[in-house]
Amino acid sequence: MVIQKIKKAVGQIKVPGDKSISHRAVMLGSLANGVTEISGFLNGADCLSTIDCFRKMGIDIDINGENVTVHGNGLRGLKKPDEMLYTGNSGTTTRLLCGILAGQNFDTSITGDASIQKRPMGRVVKPLSMMGAKIENEYCPLYITGTKLHGIDYKMPVASAQVKTAIILAGLYADGETVIHEIEKSRDHTELMLSAMGADLTVDNLDITVKPTNDLTAVNVDVPGDISSAAYFIAAALLIPGSELLIKNVGINPTRDGILKVCAQMNADIQVLNPRVQCGEDVADLLVKHSSLKGTVIEGALIPTLIDELPVLAVLAAFAEGTTMIRDAQELKVKESNRLDIMVHHLSAMGADVVPTEDGMIITGGKTLYGAVLDSHLDHRIAMAFAIAGMAAEGETEIARADCVNISYPGFYKDLEKLA
Ligand code: S3P
Repeated sequence: MVIQKIKKAVGQIKVPGDKSISHRAVMLGSLANGVTEISGFLNGADCLSTIDCFRKMGIDIDINGENVTVHGNGLRGLKKPDEMLYTGNSGTTTRLLCGILAGQNFDTSITGDASIQKRPMGRVVKPLSMMGAKIENEYCPLYITGTKLHGIDYKMPVASAQVKTAIILAGLYADGETVIHEIEKSRDHTELMLSAMGADLTVDNLDITVKPTNDLTAVNVDVPGDISSAAYFIAAALLIPGSELLIKNVGINPTRDGILKVCAQMNADIQVLNPRVQCGEDVADLLVKHSSLKGTVIEGALIPTLIDELPVLAVLAAFAEGTTMIRDAQELKVKESNRLDIMVHHLSAMGADVVPTEDGMIITGGKTLYGAVLDSHLDHRIAMAFAIAGMAAEGETEIARADCVNISYPGFYKDLEKLA
């Protein structure tokens, strides 16, 4: 994919549905009693992997564009799949499935693509094993022997919504209360959706208590646009002089809105318009205008609230005046690729001043960036972040293996063209 510098980003855009919420709507809808109508569903490869796994466990799911209907079979209504479940590139599918499958009365096995087979699953296997789960291996393929589970009191060593959700889902099947203590607040879409479905779940800041449940009741889910996808368009409008872009219908759940906070710190002009609540989730339209950005510090409790946006935030930092420090971001090493290494490499290849650190990087912004030939490493967020860098840099940028954007944003390059 060849990306040229563009003149300005103007007009209005709507990004596809939130990936995290789309996964959860299919999973929890499958486990609920009744029919879940999902609108605004993300038809990205990751969410389609989730649908495929649940279909293999006997759940009837109809897809009609962004409208998906899940015919739930109840908490104990899954059937043993005939074959190994394949989760593709999706960490969310893999880890959340572990939580659901550990407490079934049948055995399953799960694997995914080459990237998934390298991603750490010990972080879910360990707490689930404390609950009595029998899971072989800490990397895919995982072999799960369904068994009875018991509640635990667990202090999470990492801030991870996938790990938290896996434990919560297993807790629905356990024979007592499960208490989870987060170290930092991670995205809470599971808690919101499960509570709407009638689960016995309480949240007290960083502590979550879930009690076993017999029934979940289906609720319809209107999925807002994904702030992680909106991030690329926010960045394009901020970087390119003369831009003014309205991004409609974006999820701004406070556990996901770190990018807005950091952009405000960087002097960005972003107006949050028409704020509303949709199916328990905060949603708004974002009006983004070109801004003269300045460097900032991104660290601590902010990190989980913008974890997937760090590649494009690093791009913003490279164009900003002054120094940006990214700290506490070691989780980026175990994403779809080692995002810390690749961000440093690619930004340097474009001429930016970047110094890697143990848990992040130091970016001294303001140098002219030049187009380069960059590999996506089959990581959708790397491909999209550097497409935006290419639009703001001098000359031409080529992204190799650029199709991986289909994981979370199938129409990405077409939507980029609309800006120019
Ligand atoms: C997700 C949680 C995050 C995020 C991922 C989606 C989720 O991962 O990076 O893209 O839907 O729960 P971690 O839980 O590993 O932080």
